[in-house]
Amino acid sequence: MNRKDFILRSCTACLGASSVATVLSACATTKFSTGKLLKDGIVIDKQEFLIKESDQHRLYIVVRNEALVFPICVYRFSDQDYSAIWMQCAHQGAELNVAGEYLQCPAHGSEYDNRGKVTNGPADSNLRTFPVTINNNELFIDLRKI
Ligand code: FES
Repeated sequence: MNRKDFILRSCTACLGASSVATVLSACATTKFSTGKLLKDGIVIDKQEFLIKESDQHRLYIVVRNEALVFPICVYRFSDQDYSAIWMQCAHQGAELNVAGEYLQCPAHGSEYDNRGKVTNGPADSNLRTFPVTINNNELFIDLRKI
């Protein structure tokens, strides 16, 4: 059984066919990075947004590091424009999922756009975001406000 078959068989029992396609699509494009932890923040290489053997860029990278309680989703809008969003729901603190251009909470369904702005409740406030500084080929995510 290959990976796609395994995921399809595992997910079909609890999800509809269109949801399975969405999950497979999201899995295929999600890139995880641990980043490089510094005293005041975390650094990721801009090259991590590049899709192998193409000149295309990923919409986002999820930074997971054992020093962080929640992951950070880093969206790329252009070579000079990124957002870094703390993936903890503003409603009751669940970890969010990335669904392409937006973040969604599996607990009660709140949704946020790719700048961290709440677009669908029950959450009534935006997500925590961090300043991103570009230094040559690296992004510095400033975590001093965590
Ligand atoms: S914890 Fe996210 S919507 Fe309730």
